[in-house]
Amino acid sequence: MSNTVIIGTQWGDEGKGKIVDLLAEYADYVVRFQGGNNAGHTMVVEGEQFISHLIPSGILQGKICVIGNGLVVDPEVLLEEIDYLSNKGINISPEKLKISEKAHLIMPYHKQIDLARESAAGKDKKIGTTGRGIGPCYEDKAFRCGIRFVDLLDINSFEEKVYAVCKEKNFYLTKFFAQDPVDPDTIIKTYKSYQKRLAPFVTDISVYINNGIKAGRQILFEGAQGTHLDIDHGTYPYVTSSNTVAGNACSGAGVGPKQLNNIVGIVKAYTTRVGKGPFPTELFDEIGDKIQETGAEFGATTGRKRRCGWLDTVIVRNSVRLNSLTGLVVTKLDVLGGLDTLNICNAYEYNGTQIDEFPADLTVLGKCRPIYETLPGWQEDISKIRKYDDLPQNTKNYLNRIEELTGTKIDIISIGPGRKETIVLNNIFN
Ligand code: GDP
Ligand code: IMO
Ligand code: MG
Repeated sequence: MSNTVIIGTQWGDEGKGKIVDLLAEYADYVVRFQGGNNAGHTMVVEGEQFISHLIPSGILQGKICVIGNGLVVDPEVLLEEIDYLSNKGINISPEKLKISEKAHLIMPYHKQIDLARESAAGKDKKIGTTGRGIGPCYEDKAFRCGIRFVDLLDINSFEEKVYAVCKEKNFYLTKFFAQDPVDPDTIIKTYKSYQKRLAPFVTDISVYINNGIKAGRQILFEGAQGTHLDIDHGTYPYVTSSNTVAGNACSGAGVGPKQLNNIVGIVKAYTTRVGKGPFPTELFDEIGDKIQETGAEFGATTGRKRRCGWLDTVIVRNSVRLNSLTGLVVTKLDVLGGLDTLNICNAYEYNGTQIDEFPADLTVLGKCRPIYETLPGWQEDISKIRKYDDLPQNTKNYLNRIEELTGTKIDIISIGPGRKETIVLNNIFN
């Protein structure tokens, strides 16, 4: 039996959805433990693309999917997702989907505040959020005025909480942003209709998961975002509002650290970022454009063009340490085909000195210049290759160098968006 956590090592969109879908075949439960519908996880099954924002990516493998207490859930989006998947013939019954009673609800005022702040912030002050109300919802959780699923189940207490919170939010919205207030009665009416549909899915997921572990079930924990968007360890303030590192699989799902066996970091073969914030290896030339086009690098949630750059092993090494990674999955390796040479950043240069660790100070990070080593590229289309031995020697050299620079073994290589476009070197669940 082995329980596995999948996390992103960079700034999100590493291909977590594809790998979770692939590995879910061997798991019994797939559990999301943080974030919300800022995530966009893509799965491609027999040529058909599915994007999930809240429901764990194990759903297409028919596995039991759990929305952990660490999430902030927009019930409207969740219901849309349930309907979308049900219309495609996927069974989303309360036996298949479990929602933590402790997960927080994203409310209309969270979205309004998120958007109002971003539009009021000057060009340099914007975070570039997804505008889904994620930050304001986590803020209320920390401020202890958040509303949870358990509150939604008790309508009287729910009403009381909504009236109390709306008073404060409306002061902020009208006086600070000169915006229209929200109407608590409309919110209560709308959320009552969500309650009717979602109540059967709500349960104590910590008891459920731990009973499953005792009975020998294998758990796959699905991270969202990436290590460098982590609220503590990322490029603060250009981060999301939750802990994205593997340690949060425990708090966000109600399991103890002893239950985690493998921690697998997903590494895109190059680097991308959506939204604002420093990005030392970002490319502003035709190579960056080529990677963006070949890799179809558009945000799965907001459709924004992703910024692209060379692979940065300073940040991957940072992720190895922060998450105790036991292995790596390298994705989108096919996208790098056709380039004469490939750069890998292995350290930064700052004020004439070499920096090997990721700096916390963004002023320093903003002035860091990547130190590259250059490797020969490959011209072949590798997406049809299914055995490691058949890969071009230059591709193998690139992979070997990633292992050397990160001190971590590669378990899986992904060379296309589909399940079959994968080379498994070590089956993590064996
Ligand atoms: P996530 O947020 O980490 O799940 O990643 P996204 O789904 O937002 O973005 C990854 C994108 O790359 C999706 O469009 C995937 O279908 C696609 N993808 C995943 N792995 C590969 C791969 O190995 N090669 C190619 N070409 N595309 C991939
Ligand atoms: P997945 O799970 C990439 C980014 C946003 C913004 C910052 C804060 O698909 O990898 P937020 O709305 O969370 O307050 O925005 O975080 N961001 C992501 N970038 N992939 C994601 O998720 C992201 N989720 C949030 O673009 O820069
Ligand atoms: Mg994504």
